[in-house]
Amino acid sequence: MKEKINVCIVGLGRAGRFHLRSIQNLKMFHLKYVVDPCVLEDDEGLRGNGVRILGCIEEALKDDELDAVIVSPPTQFHFDYICCSLEAGKHVFTEKPLGKSLTEIQACFDLAEERNLALHLGFQRRHDGNFRELKAKIGRIQPVKIIKASSRDNPKPSLEYLKISGNIFHDMLIHDFDMLIFLLGKEMPETVFALGHAYDDEIGAIPDFDTVLVTLKYSSGLICSIDTSRAAVYGYDQRLELFGEGGMAIAENERNHTVQLHTAEGMQLAPINDSFPERYKEAYALEIADFGNGIREGRLNNVTKNECVLGHLLANAAHESAIGGEVVDFKEYVASVGVEF
Ligand SMILES: NC(=O)c1ccc[n+]([C@@H]2O[C@H](COP(=O)([O-])OP(=O)(O)OC[C@H]3O[C@@H](n4cnc5c(N)ncnc54)[C@H](O)[C@@H]3O)[C@@H](O)[C@H]2O)c1
Repeated sequence: MKEKINVCIVGLGRAGRFHLRSIQNLKMFHLKYVVDPCVLEDDEGLRGNGVRILGCIEEALKDDELDAVIVSPPTQFHFDYICCSLEAGKHVFTEKPLGKSLTEIQACFDLAEERNLALHLGFQRRHDGNFRELKAKIGRIQPVKIIKASSRDNPKPSLEYLKISGNIFHDMLIHDFDMLIFLLGKEMPETVFALGHAYDDEIGAIPDFDTVLVTLKYSSGLICSIDTSRAAVYGYDQRLELFGEGGMAIAENERNHTVQLHTAEGMQLAPINDSFPERYKEAYALEIADFGNGIREGRLNNVTKNECVLGHLLANAAHESAIGGEVVDFKEYVASVGVEF
């Protein structure tokens, strides 16, 4: 086994930068290339590391010493980078969403399987200590009757980002659907219903929503609600509550410190984390470490093809419901696109 996994990061923006930090902090990796047309030779984060900065990926893929590619450019480029990297025999870690369509998602998993290469996805919440603990506690409150998730971003992403993000269902809620899959396994809801609104006219003109509520009902009776917003002035708000016969389990927001100030005017808590790089700092590092260990141990997927497809179809169904104003019969929808789980 090689001492180091040689890696290339494609796209060094918000996501690429937290992956860069993880790679630089993990001894098992050596960063050989960065592919980003906008990164300069004297980039502060890369200085002194001997990293080659390229405008396109071809040269890196020809390098037999390169083992793996981290794909984090804007969403519309994921599929092409994943395919050419796998075709060149490189393991791939990709940011979400993996592809823009069912066909793209299936093709990526099939190609990785055919080549016996790792394909890991950036669903970092699966590595978050709070959500893992919540999952571990599900048995104590079974049967679960209600799941309530709040998922509100901060700060609002740029309009340029939002225009090419897919939409709020595939860009943001995909993480929440993945959390439901993480918690519930491959159980499918019977119905999906969503309401959306664009308070921001520029987001409305994309067209997209900035505020959405999704409800899902499962055959066991379980009812889930996820509310999401592109911006919450008080910080990055990610909470999850499970209510069941045996009690309730809650994963709360993380705060900068735990000191409470009680005065005659009332009580003050520290602010919650400002944004996702802070909230998921450890989870981002753990998912990249898991990718490296996966390559070494032959654990080729962190999320199965079926799980990824299910998340994608939930996002499609919720989008369809929010646009059409109707409840979507999810099993019928899944059958209509020819998927069998
Ligand atoms: N998992 C998470 O928590 C999380 C958080 C943020 C973003 N993301 C995902 O990461 C991806 C990137 O989002 P971001 O917020 O970092 O965007 P960003 O706009 O901040 O960064 C994108 C980077 O890609 C570069 N780029 C543009 N075109 C390119 C190309 N053809 N080839 C290579 N690089 C190119 C840009 O120069 C920029 O540096 C998105 O798909 C998004 O869904 C995931």
